[in-house]
Amino acid sequence: MTSLKPPITRIANKNSNGNMSLNKKMTKDRKILHIALLLGFGGIPVAIVVGIVIFFHQPTTYHCPMYIADAQMSQLTQAESSTKATSKGSSQNDSPSTENLSVLSPAAVQLGAGIFEESCASCHGQTGQGDVAVDTKLPVPPKDLNSWAVQWRKDTDLLQAISDHDYVTPLFSAKFSDEERWGLVHYIRKTFSPSGSPPWNSMKFQSVEKLGRTIFETLDCNRCHRDDRPRELAGFPPTLDHVGSKLKRDWIVEYLLNPYPIRWATMGIRPLLRMPSFKFERSTAEAVADYLSMQVDTVRFPETALKGQGNADEGQSLFKSYQCLGCHSLRGEGNKIGPDLTKAGDRLKPAYIFQWVKDPQGLIPGTGMKDFELWDDEASSLVRYVETLK
Ligand code: HEC
Ligand code: HEC
Ligand code: HEC
Repeated sequence: MTSLKPPITRIANKNSNGNMSLNKKMTKDRKILHIALLLGFGGIPVAIVVGIVIFFHQPTTYHCPMYIADAQMSQLTQAESSTKATSKGSSQNDSPSTENLSVLSPAAVQLGAGIFEESCASCHGQTGQGDVAVDTKLPVPPKDLNSWAVQWRKDTDLLQAISDHDYVTPLFSAKFSDEERWGLVHYIRKTFSPSGSPPWNSMKFQSVEKLGRTIFETLDCNRCHRDDRPRELAGFPPTLDHVGSKLKRDWIVEYLLNPYPIRWATMGIRPLLRMPSFKFERSTAEAVADYLSMQVDTVRFPETALKGQGNADEGQSLFKSYQCLGCHSLRGEGNKIGPDLTKAGDRLKPAYIFQWVKDPQGLIPGTGMKDFELWDDEASSLVRYVETLK
């Protein structure tokens, strides 16, 4: 019991302290001993209670600020499906709110205009450029609504971004009806626009690096991903600085075409910030994935880290004995604190998994995954096992 330790050290310290008279020192020692015994025996029932609590608790109670229970996730998924339902619903009503608006409804634009004037212009400005005198407490500047970064997003994604808009209370999803938020999407599409066509359209024959980088910069991906963005939580959104060492290229392509939640989210704990869904075609997604794949850190993630070691079967039993499913899920089993590992072998590169399982706190200080102090061959075996998850 740790509760015993401090009094004992204090006794030892006092004993070596020659300044007190012997008598005083003895009564003092006895007092301390009494306190020590009291704490010691008092500790036993506490230990029993703590033991019982730990025993009966499910592992979901790992206290990790970023990753929380299922319930919250279903909120997000619900929000998403309600978005889809709305878009379908209104297209049945002959209104143009489909996945990507092709026709703008004047009535919806008008509805949006009124709301924009009242609830948005104070930060975004009439021009949408966000260059008005805004609340200086905002940690990031409002995004220019005329930019490709906003206008190249899918309509349902724009609706979602407005619904989950940061820095406003109450949330716009609670303040405005679906119809009103769709009105805002119509208004933003109608009123604000970037000039010309996307810059990458005219550079089809450029090098992949140049093409990918232009898309990356024009869509301002690092607005969310760069390191100096105010982050409420460890590593969120993740940095893309060494993304080429972390993620497999083909996985990135599919993810850009159809992003989905990887880390568990909730209101108030993890920001509702999501990876946007842009109007990528396969070719543009591939260019970006190729560009991202060049962002490597071969010093921290040397391809040779594994040195051919490790054994998947051994990894599987380590995975059990270290109780990785206490935080992760795998084919529907386990917990939703860390990302689902069902397809981790498709997503992650071996050298990254190796460094990650060896030193998670070194890679993302403050992350919810603890350091298991693994031996190299244990880490290698875990990598071999995770690689089989496809
Ligand atoms: C308190 C100031 C403020 C108000 C009011 C406000 N915004 Fe924003 N808006 C911001 C800031 C700041 C950002 C940049 C957010 C970021 O980078 O995380 C932003 C970003 C956006 C974006 C881009 C979304 C994204 O994910 O980058 C859209 C679209 C948007 N706002 C629409 C609206 C609409 C529509 C309204 C009114 C219903 C509104 N905003 C009201 C400050 C505001
Ligand atoms: C509005 C903020 C925002 C913008 C803009 C944004 N992202 Fe993201 N991105 C996120 C968030 C949040 C996540 C984490 C999602 C999760 O864990 O569920 C993410 C995840 C990712 C991932 C997976 C990274 C990992 O390690 O898990 C990649 C790759 C990525 N984004 C690429 C891009 C690219 C390329 C662009 C620009 C075209 C972009 N992002 C623009 C917010 C953003
Ligand atoms: C206490 C909770 C916890 C435990 C236990 C845990 N992890 Fe994690 N793990 C996390 C969190 C949180 C992340 C997400 C880090 C981030 O933000 O990218 C993570 C991320 C990962 C990733 C990267 C997943 C991805 O798609 O980005 C792998 C691989 C991983 N863990 C493997 C393991 C293995 C193997 C074990 C057992 C030895 C384990 N974890 C045990 C919390 C945990």
